[in-house]
Amino acid sequence: MAKRKFTVTAALPYSNGRLHVGHIAGCYLPADTFVRYLRSLGEEAAFICGSDDYGVPVALTARKEGKSPQEVSDHYRKIQKNDFEGLGIEFDIYSGTSQPPHDDISQQFFLKALENGYLEKRSQKQLYDPEAGMFLPDRYVEGVCHHCNAPDARGDQCESCGKPIDPELLNNPRSTITGARPRVKDTVHWFFLLSKFEDRLKEWLESHEEWRPMVRNFTGGLLESGLPDRAITRDLDWGIPVPLEDDPDAQGKVLYVWFDAPIGYVSFTAQWCRQNGKNLEAYENWWKDPECEIVHFIGEDNVVFHALMWPAMLMAQEDFQLPSQVPANCFLNIRPQGEDEQKISKSRGTAVWINEYLRSYDADPLRYYLTMIAPEDQRTTFKFEDFIARNNDELVACLGNLVHRTVTFVHKYCDGKIPPRGELSGEDRLQLEGIGELPGLAGEELEGYRFKNGLNRVMAAAREANRYFDRRKPWLLRKDNMPECRSVLNVLLNTIKTIGITAEPFLPFAGAKIRSMLACGTEEFRWKSASEPLPENRPLGKPEILFEKLEPPGDD
Ligand code: 2FM
Ligand code: ZN
Repeated sequence: MAKRKFTVTAALPYSNGRLHVGHIAGCYLPADTFVRYLRSLGEEAAFICGSDDYGVPVALTARKEGKSPQEVSDHYRKIQKNDFEGLGIEFDIYSGTSQPPHDDISQQFFLKALENGYLEKRSQKQLYDPEAGMFLPDRYVEGVCHHCNAPDARGDQCESCGKPIDPELLNNPRSTITGARPRVKDTVHWFFLLSKFEDRLKEWLESHEEWRPMVRNFTGGLLESGLPDRAITRDLDWGIPVPLEDDPDAQGKVLYVWFDAPIGYVSFTAQWCRQNGKNLEAYENWWKDPECEIVHFIGEDNVVFHALMWPAMLMAQEDFQLPSQVPANCFLNIRPQGEDEQKISKSRGTAVWINEYLRSYDADPLRYYLTMIAPEDQRTTFKFEDFIARNNDELVACLGNLVHRTVTFVHKYCDGKIPPRGELSGEDRLQLEGIGELPGLAGEELEGYRFKNGLNRVMAAAREANRYFDRRKPWLLRKDNMPECRSVLNVLLNTIKTIGITAEPFLPFAGAKIRSMLACGTEEFRWKSASEPLPENRPLGKPEILFEKLEPPGDD
């Protein structure tokens, strides 16, 4: 069968802060698991990410920290890169939207959309903060809700009544940046004519019944109520200049961050191609080839931009492929010890930061826990004591124990070599048959983007293998019937090989250790070879501990 080809992206985090467990559970971990699975299968994949450097969030952090936006984004991009590496999330490239050739490629997107008749210049009124000297994005204005009189309604949506806000109608408005009273000022912007794509988007979304219901329902609802045209330029000094040098209206304007950010997926692919000695245009292989599947992993707050706006932007270019999947996860809440479940919040100090986590713990236990509680179809909650319990009761007591007791037994009683398989009992055969189904079953879940189910399949196989070990009692067979004991150990080692290969996309560090204990080469340790028997009499590698037992947190 011909190799399949995938361009896999994960949402670009703003480069104004560190990453926490919510980010990882939202899109980076499932994306990495998926790419590892594809590579294990032997498919071709480009795994693309980088930071979202422009826009108000980074500009405001810079203002607060007394640095330039470029300094801020360079600083946090490095931290984010380390966080990802520490968790074994291995992008082919982790760039940033303030890095070349992102500006050129974004400007080309703008010009092509303009040339094709999908952009229009319009004047509009907008709130302006005279103290900050800037126009205010809606969510940086607060005031009394014009629907329900709630006192601190945000300019995009009222948290009390849930209704969309018209920021100009807020009573007693104030800028959340300086506290000043904003005034209404005229400005000119380029609008992306999203309304022109309604029919095409509808037809395209209807052809994707396999997508998660959350994505389908949300986009379906928006399409139902009609898609408004959207301003894709801003009056800001941190961003990509609108590339219309001869138009006085374009002076001082930059592209809206949500216009340039998804183009980052394309420009980072181009940058990666160049890093690999190809020319810049080689990115077309990943974006314009109908045989290549484009998959965008995102969080729930990014659905509108990835399933409506971005596909329309791609349609406006006319020669790009559309995404084939947009797996979106819901948010991850947190329940700090002794407190109620709540949203992860930087300001309330409830975030579990990745760089702090990695100072005390290994990556795999977190990857395991976040996959097991993956918010795939609803919000779920991170509880630290639950994380510890699942590490100890599942990773250590089940998977770690299976591997450790088998490998140490073979070292002790079989000279550290893969024992030969003699005559098999019915039970041995059943064990081999059962484990032979694992790659297909786990693979089916992964193909359907059901990562939690995939990992559950692997863990069920490990539990079953422990039961087989207990029933076959190699510690007694050793004394009465060594050939039978060897056969059982052979079955167990082959079982561990299959489990190791199918666990690797989820738990890459444990996967690597299992591979080295079984002394497998890289090709031998791939999804397709998962059920091929290990060569008899080959020496095993040294036994290694897969997972450490962790102490439950104290009461304070
Ligand atoms: O929500 C966010 O954090 C955005 N920075 C995501 C951008 S994803 C893509 F479009 F680049
Ligand atoms: Zn309200």
